[in-house]
Amino acid sequence: MLSAYMRIKYPHLVAGALAASAPVVAVAGLGDPYQFFRDVSADFEGQSPKCAQAVRDAFRQIKDLFLQGAYDTVSQEFGTCSPLSGPGDLTQLFAFARNAFTLLAMMDYPYPAEVVGHLPANPVKVGCDRLLTESQRIKGLRSLAGLVYNSSGTEPCYDIYLQYQVCADPTGCGLGPDAKAWDYQACTEINLTFSSNNVSDIFPDLPFTEALRQQYCLDTWGVWPRQDWLQTSFGGGDLTAASNIIFSNGDLDPWAGGGIQSNLSTSVLAITIHGGAHHLDLRASHPEDPASVVEARSLEATLIGKWVEAARRERRLRLA
Ligand SMILES: *[C@@H]1O[C@H](CO)[C@@H](O)[C@H](O)[C@H]1NC(C)=O
Ligand SMILES: *[C@@H]1O[C@H](CO)[C@@H](O)[C@H](O)[C@H]1NC(C)=O
Ligand SMILES: *[C@@H]1O[C@H](CO)[C@@H](O)[C@H](O)[C@H]1NC(C)=O
Ligand SMILES: *[C@@H]1O[C@H](CO)[C@@H](O)[C@H](O)[C@H]1NC(C)=O
Repeated sequence: MLSAYMRIKYPHLVAGALAASAPVVAVAGLGDPYQFFRDVSADFEGQSPKCAQAVRDAFRQIKDLFLQGAYDTVSQEFGTCSPLSGPGDLTQLFAFARNAFTLLAMMDYPYPAEVVGHLPANPVKVGCDRLLTESQRIKGLRSLAGLVYNSSGTEPCYDIYLQYQVCADPTGCGLGPDAKAWDYQACTEINLTFSSNNVSDIFPDLPFTEALRQQYCLDTWGVWPRQDWLQTSFGGGDLTAASNIIFSNGDLDPWAGGGIQSNLSTSVLAITIHGGAHHLDLRASHPEDPASVVEARSLEATLIGKWVEAARRERRLRLA
């Protein structure tokens, strides 16, 4: 996103931009608030409808046990460090678990990767296998979540408040100081009011509306999100006046649907990488790379070469 904004703002300094997996429409508050978790769900549906149904069943069982007051059963089967109770813990548990799916979908690379802990190759498939191998759904969900929260295999239990921290980005801010910086940005510059609803997605109903964002940002940072700031500053989804930008997206990436997915002009181009997860094209090449990403990188290199050549030509003309 920054590369696209940089080209838009400083076209005299930057010849072009490769904006890989850049959800410029969504973060300007112009997308469908249910798109993100619907597309995370689609990756699991695509893996197998049985897997998606098992996810729904696991969440429903947790909710039903909570309604019955059987908190200890959930704590034990899911393996939380502290005993759970009440609606606050249920929401946190749901958000904690949902985030495992978000990360598996984003990092669904065809080879092992170290972006968050150590994920195996094809982590969506591995997650589904883990979920379906357990005869009890809540234990299956625990095992799937372990790909993200127990990748070392040394966590005796899940500390759901420590290992997942709710922030102004419902797709997760991560942990530590960079998570704080991202959270502040999600309260000021980028708008990530995404919700899951248990209808168009497989997750519990977890709304994150503008009103909730405003309250959170005020309480946490003493700031109030600026209405339409990104749209005003950079045009949001209206990039008709821009030039020399490549928007590349993998079709497995839940961020893709919040970005630019069609060619807007002869020089603002969209490249779709079939079988690609979150900015696969910007990762180093790998023997397991699908042909689509090899082609995408080659087209990107050709276009970058042309931009640089044209910029050089213009510079020579100016100097002459
Ligand atoms: C953020 O986006 C939502 C739509 O998803 C919109 O209703 C809201 O006004 C936006 N917030 C700001 C501060 O621009
Ligand atoms: C999701 O919706 C189904 C169908 O309405 C319902 O039975 C189930 O309890 C809901 N799940 C959660 C976690 O709320
Ligand atoms: C983490 O992995 C280890 C090794 O497989 C397992 O014994 C432990 O129960 C897992 N922790 C949780 C919370 O599931
Ligand atoms: C946009 O144009 C490029 C270059 O011609 C082409 O490779 C690409 O497939 C087009 N993108 C879409 C989404 O049609």
